[in-house]
Amino acid sequence: MVSQGVDRSESPAAGSAGSSSGILAEAQRRRSFAVISHPDAGKSTLTEALALHAQVIDSAGAVHGKSGRRGVTSDWMEMERQRGISVSSAVLQFSYRDAVINLLDTPGHGDFSEDTYRVLAAVDAAVMLLDAAKGLEPQTLKLFDVCRSRKIPVLTFVNKWDRPGREPLELLDEVEQRIGLRPMPLTWPLGIAGELKGLIEVATGEYTKFTRAAGGATRASAEVVAPEVVAADEPQFWSTAQDEIALLEEIGAQFDEKEFLAGTATPVLFGAALSNIGVARLLDALVDLAPPPSEREDAEGRPRALDTPLSGLIFKVQAGMDRAHRDRMAFLRINSGRFERGMVLTHAATGKPFATKYAQAVFGNQRTTVEEAFPGDIVGLVNANALRPGDTLYASGPIEYPAIPSFAPEHFSVARCADAGKTKQFRKGIEQLDGEGVIQVLRSDRRGDQAPVLAAVGPLQFDVVAARMESEFNAPIRLEGLPYQIARVTDEAGEAALSSQSECEVLTRSDGVKLAVFSNKWRMDVVIRKFPDVTFAPLLAGTVTD
Ligand code: G4P
Repeated sequence: MVSQGVDRSESPAAGSAGSSSGILAEAQRRRSFAVISHPDAGKSTLTEALALHAQVIDSAGAVHGKSGRRGVTSDWMEMERQRGISVSSAVLQFSYRDAVINLLDTPGHGDFSEDTYRVLAAVDAAVMLLDAAKGLEPQTLKLFDVCRSRKIPVLTFVNKWDRPGREPLELLDEVEQRIGLRPMPLTWPLGIAGELKGLIEVATGEYTKFTRAAGGATRASAEVVAPEVVAADEPQFWSTAQDEIALLEEIGAQFDEKEFLAGTATPVLFGAALSNIGVARLLDALVDLAPPPSEREDAEGRPRALDTPLSGLIFKVQAGMDRAHRDRMAFLRINSGRFERGMVLTHAATGKPFATKYAQAVFGNQRTTVEEAFPGDIVGLVNANALRPGDTLYASGPIEYPAIPSFAPEHFSVARCADAGKTKQFRKGIEQLDGEGVIQVLRSDRRGDQAPVLAAVGPLQFDVVAARMESEFNAPIRLEGLPYQIARVTDEAGEAALSSQSECEVLTRSDGVKLAVFSNKWRMDVVIRKFPDVTFAPLLAGTVTD
């Protein structure tokens, strides 16, 4: 997270920043969101374009370590770069108008959807990014489901309009038909996909003409042009667009704030992130429409007022973020109060104090010290060895936010230390990766501590574990796949019942939850029928709905 773009002097906060009115005013300025999309829809490009627009970074490419771009990664992230995937999430903070924007990045690959899910626990809105030629793709659908389940309002950005693509009305229809979200276009493209001339404001009719710049590193120039002029310059496109806008009005596609906030309708914007077309409009929509942080409920369902003492949720833990800092960092989303560096918080899970002397904003390899932060902001906490995703920290409590549910693992492998002299490092590494939530670690008395079972939502998680075990902990591992595909939460009765059954077993996760794992759904159904009084509860669906 970088915060050099944030100008505190713009703050309209009434009273001092720590007062109740000051906290509420600061919270009101925050917009914390994530972009959800299928790989290749342009998420990295859009993130860079957003940041470029807000002038946080001075050239495109500083956000991610993707091929050919100037990027910042740690050594284990080398693997991501080679594969063109982004495993880790960056947080970017910048000012735009009088708002403070927190943009949380999500991994694009489906194998890391559990990480994405955790990030979505820390945002107040999401941008659903669609490729104009492809529309809704599988990963977008899955992530949208997460937004729906968390009741996160979603804005839609139809990207790559500079390339041949589908009809805009057809794309809107797909959104409505397939995910039941009523589209409410805020802008409308002039010219077909691949021949984008400019964007029309649906509500006012104002037209902005775009002249594209080469590449994505500079903004396309934008110029407001009078309707008579564009009607004379582009008569065919203009009349088609006017007909379509009239149709939108007829079918009732006008913006409705209540429906947007309730998650039943989505404002839609068109553009091309690569040329910065429509990006400023998206930022304006985020500032004007996306909700600021609101009171979050604790595990008992009691809302925690924004101006009460500091409390927040750890949504991500990551080690080895760059070569110079081999420490473990926990990312705290602030839910209430004013954060001040140095304050001593309580870790709700253990009741132990946690000092925040080393609070940082982290963005790639840039780290800046965070002196203060407000609801909606993300703070990186260094030396966070005891903190796990889903944990609560508070200044005055007690309070505990609901845990972030785990996804149902679908891939299982036994991990063994490949070098008999490295068992200590092996244990330490497995424990740390477990604590970070990189993978679920399951154990049983029968298998012993030397051979824990790693349970993943997607197989790439195993590659990350193997690479990190070798490079960070100097403990190369051997993985042996297990023939399980499905997991259910059970208890001691389930453990006893399954001990006599084949093609299944019960393993215990490090948080004490017992998971019954089965070779397939058919086998599981047979076992469930056989033991009707035993609990076999589903976990959150990961890559497939089981
Ligand atoms: P992702 O993070 O969602 O995976 O997508 P990313 O931004 O890497 O974009 C995927 C590809 O789509 C990239 O091309 C990128 O340049 C291109 N792209 C993104 N936005 C636009 C757009 O508005 N218009 C057009 N025409 N292309 C766009 P690439 O060749 O795969 O990668 P690269 O070498 O450019 O990085």
